[in-house]
Amino acid sequence: MSERKLTMSVNVIGWAVGLAVMCATPPAHAQPPTPAATDVAKDEGIPVQNDLVRAKCGSCHRSDDKGRMSRVSYRRATPENWERTIKRMVTLNHAILEPADARSILKYLADHQGLAPDEARPIAFEAEHRMIEYSYTVDKDAADTCSSCHSMARVLSERRTKEEWELLVAMHRGYYPLIDSQPMNGGQGFRRTRPIQTEPGPDGRPPDNRHPMDKALEHLTKTLPLTTPEWSAWSAAMQAPKIVGRWAVVGSQAGKGSIFGQVTVTADPSVPDGFNTETRYTVARSGETITRTGKALVYTGYQWRGRGSSSSAAGSDPSTSSGSSRAQSRDEAAWREVLFVERDWTQMWGRWFTGAYDETGIDVKLTRLSNDPVVLGTSVASLKTGATNQAVKIFGANLPATLRPEDVGFGQGVRVSRIVNARADEIALEVDVAVGAPIGPRDVSVGGTVKAAALVVYDKIDGIRVLPQAGMARVGGNVFPKQLQQFEAVAINYGPDGKPDTADDLTLGLVAVKWSLEEYTATFGDDDIQFVGTLDANGLFTPNVDGPNPKRSGNRNNVGDVWVVAELSSADARQPDRPLRARAQLLVTVPLYMAWFESEGGK
Ligand code: HEC
Ligand code: HEC
Repeated sequence: MSERKLTMSVNVIGWAVGLAVMCATPPAHAQPPTPAATDVAKDEGIPVQNDLVRAKCGSCHRSDDKGRMSRVSYRRATPENWERTIKRMVTLNHAILEPADARSILKYLADHQGLAPDEARPIAFEAEHRMIEYSYTVDKDAADTCSSCHSMARVLSERRTKEEWELLVAMHRGYYPLIDSQPMNGGQGFRRTRPIQTEPGPDGRPPDNRHPMDKALEHLTKTLPLTTPEWSAWSAAMQAPKIVGRWAVVGSQAGKGSIFGQVTVTADPSVPDGFNTETRYTVARSGETITRTGKALVYTGYQWRGRGSSSSAAGSDPSTSSGSSRAQSRDEAAWREVLFVERDWTQMWGRWFTGAYDETGIDVKLTRLSNDPVVLGTSVASLKTGATNQAVKIFGANLPATLRPEDVGFGQGVRVSRIVNARADEIALEVDVAVGAPIGPRDVSVGGTVKAAALVVYDKIDGIRVLPQAGMARVGGNVFPKQLQQFEAVAINYGPDGKPDTADDLTLGLVAVKWSLEEYTATFGDDDIQFVGTLDANGLFTPNVDGPNPKRSGNRNNVGDVWVVAELSSADARQPDRPLRARAQLLVTVPLYMAWFESEGGK
């Protein structure tokens, strides 16, 4: 893109925004920039066939004779990105919208100008609010230029024409003028500052004088175009999802372990592609049972966005009540649901989450239930050789209510000694494991149904591991909310080769350990452990309050680096001779003062 064009776009935007701010009812000529003739000539652009969108957005975004609206028709986006744009139209551009209309417009645009499943799959983590490290390695210039304020996934959440990618850059420059000169992530900012090179490079080739922004734009235009085979195919094939029915849910929550249960999905006739849910699940290890009711919408035929809250007023869900001084502004019992509905309507997967920073979550997979029996998993992740009367629960659906011990199988050397109780969704039993039973993963079968590698048989605990190996929390409670960090301790058996960290290591599941904090000597004598916060008996770290602390030298904030230490005592029934220790690093840092990566979640 030439400098001249960029400057022009900025002027147009500055002018349009200025006008919109000045007049409560924007005059018809406060037009956002229109795509250039080159774009239209290619006959791209998705006509808008929705009266509400035309009525509410049309005063500024004109339609052409093919029904294509300026700006709007030349991009596709995830529900989250459409929502962000619509919000900006209201907050900065003074569009006037009732919430119900905003929701309908969001639904229409996400459905008709969305991303295809295969385009959204690689960036599922963004909508799921997963705290992962993601690096976009496809193009370094684009990653350096575009991922310092928000994740690259926000960029990959859209597809645009060349002109629209350029106008997006103009939007950033118009609203955030400092962006021009801020060299972030080793980038150069958005405006050319480097002197033009004329000498050939070491390889003898003429120098590449393009600005990183120009290179990034070239990359975005090429790899994220408006028209793609994926979208052409999906927009033709897409149907209203028929997902009413019973679903089995299997999940895993840090610090709690596996969960098993059912979600009943019914239609919510008040909105298109709307659903009501009733969820009931059991935390396998503790036996605690949680019920929730919720509502969801499915966008673009496959993007489930829901909300659920505990139905019992008594707060039967302790996972949401931890961290009492967390941000007051959020409904503590509210959980959000982001799921990817697979095309065959038999599976959905994703994350349920809550917490001020969405840091508390359950990774879930839902499978559609028929009337056939299904084994989902077990209450224990491992069984010890040579131990008798070990209590095990099998979780499932449509399981037989009358069972004999020989109807349940765990493989060689494991004998079911007693069926304690049998229900359609849960069988309680006891097993004896022979001294010489071979160690390794075991399938669990009930009647003719098998769950592969449901648990492992082991002879001893060789070590423990603390997860995550590097955690992060944020002080809060005064001005900003706290970000908690859950740690967990997992037992390990070194496997048949007896060597740690090899492929045959067996993970034996969570173990109850004694948790403590130790000084991590990044700065000598800073006594971090007295200030950073507390670790509870279940490995949940709650940071201290934000702001200066007069009790600390230099009146510093309560931030710091510490070790989180887990100790499995030799008194533990499953542990042979000596106590085992493991540790992980914890960084307790400042609040997130500006949540530029915050996504509102498409509802
Ligand atoms: C009052 C005038 C006004 C109204 C009404 C309006 N917009 Fe905009 N729109 C603008 C302006 C100005 C820009 C360019 C600046 C920007 O991107 O914020 C813009 C830009 C856009 C863009 C491009 C954004 C990008 O990321 O590059 C989209 C898409 C859009 N509008 C959609 C909508 C939709 C959908 C509606 C109706 C809900 C709407 N607009 C209503 C003024 C308006
Ligand atoms: C200085 C920080 C910063 C940098 C650098 C940055 N962005 Fe953004 N970006 C933002 C902010 C803030 C928003 C949210 C704007 C709003 O909706 O108010 C945003 C929004 C977006 C959106 C959503 C657009 C919409 O309509 O809501 C896209 C796509 C995007 N950026 C792409 C990019 C690309 C591509 C680059 C690199 C060329 C980039 N960003 C670099 C701060 C940045």
